[in-house]
Amino acid sequence: MSDKPWGGRFSTPMDQFVEEFNASVDVDRRMYAEDIAGSRAHARMLNKQGMLSNDELAAILKGLDEIQEEIERGEFAFLTELEDVHMNIERRLTERIGEAGKKLHTARSRNDQVTTDTRLFLRRRSEDVRQRLVALQQVLVDLAEAHADTIMPGFTHLQTAQPVTLGHHLLAYVEMLERDKGRVDDAAARMNQCPLGAAALAGTGFAIDRDMTAEELGFDGPCANSLDAVSDRDFILELLGAAAIAAVHLSRLAEELILWSSAQFAFIELPDAYCTGSSIMPQKKNPDMPELVRGKTGGIIGGLVATLTTMKGLPLAYNKDMQEDKRAIFSALDDLEGSLRVFAEMLPGTTINKQAMQQAAAGGFSTATDLADRLVRGGVPFREAHKITGKAVALCLQESKGLADLTDDDCASIDARLAKDMVRDLSVEASVAARNHFGGTSPEQVKCQVTSWRQRLE
Ligand code: ARG
Repeated sequence: MSDKPWGGRFSTPMDQFVEEFNASVDVDRRMYAEDIAGSRAHARMLNKQGMLSNDELAAILKGLDEIQEEIERGEFAFLTELEDVHMNIERRLTERIGEAGKKLHTARSRNDQVTTDTRLFLRRRSEDVRQRLVALQQVLVDLAEAHADTIMPGFTHLQTAQPVTLGHHLLAYVEMLERDKGRVDDAAARMNQCPLGAAALAGTGFAIDRDMTAEELGFDGPCANSLDAVSDRDFILELLGAAAIAAVHLSRLAEELILWSSAQFAFIELPDAYCTGSSIMPQKKNPDMPELVRGKTGGIIGGLVATLTTMKGLPLAYNKDMQEDKRAIFSALDDLEGSLRVFAEMLPGTTINKQAMQQAAAGGFSTATDLADRLVRGGVPFREAHKITGKAVALCLQESKGLADLTDDDCASIDARLAKDMVRDLSVEASVAARNHFGGTSPEQVKCQVTSWRQRLE
């Protein structure tokens, strides 16, 4: 007979490689605290319902505490042949306390156990991610305040478009991270239903109290359908989706930091501690951290796609395929948290080259729209104003000069409605200051938004 916890009907032992291939303990051991918490709640419920004596319950609770300490002291030997965290802990419990340990699995299956553990684990990790999101938002808000009136070129198509304030640009990311937080919160709230009691798939013939276990574990209530309870993994998909979107946001910021720290932009200099050099080119300082954050996005998106693909053809209820779910979400959350952390720590030490930003903002005819707007104020319809300004830009390009250098004659040759004093003081400062409505780029609006974010992020 096989000595597995499920070995009764087996006559030959498992192939050794299959044992390794089958095991998930290297990944799911991270859920040991949740597995033990679930077992405590289940044991208390079995006791209340008359399925465990008081002595048995006391022995189980004590044994579980000791196992938790063993694990936390690094003394617990997780065994591959016991497949997963659930059977490792259960076997150790029986080793320690004897017969009572064997009763713990009454009215329970690893199928409801694993998804209970995963929900508890992800609920906790969602809170960690949330805190990291807030921490990065706070760093960005501080920087936005310091750079409420730092002017840089705003881009569309990566071509100079209009001047914007750096503060406004950074607050765009604060908005994205806020929505990311909302998605993580939504996922955490929706997953907060307790599968315990669904057992293998159909529920159990024992008189269990599902409300009790749900409440003890801090769930909003028990899952209402046992088949759904053990086969649903959309709580993982949802969190992976939220993580993938957040990672995409960080990746876009990473890309900008990489561009901005290049010699061609020279808008910023990243702190040395977050960069590396080249083994051959002595002058190099490479933006490795933003590059890694951008790179890890691939793996996080991959985790989402992998898990969607794993789930798409599965019949109800539990299938072993689903064991692959944890690797994907665990590594996605590790990478996302790491990325959030590295950015929150790196950005405050980043040097902003205001002068280079301001100079770049003034180039590329970034105030051309302001000139068109002036023509409109003089009564020219916008479409015509657009055309007149376009001609002015073309003339400037031809003569290698700026809009402010256009002479009276130049203006007259372009259009009778274009006057020299319209091109005179088209400053980038005036351009950003003018965009002073809710959501606009003016320093005043940035300061308002900073105040409002400070309150919201308290
Ligand atoms: N290690 C398994 C997993 O992560 C636990 C559930 C196993 N259930 C089963 N019937 N084989 O999915």
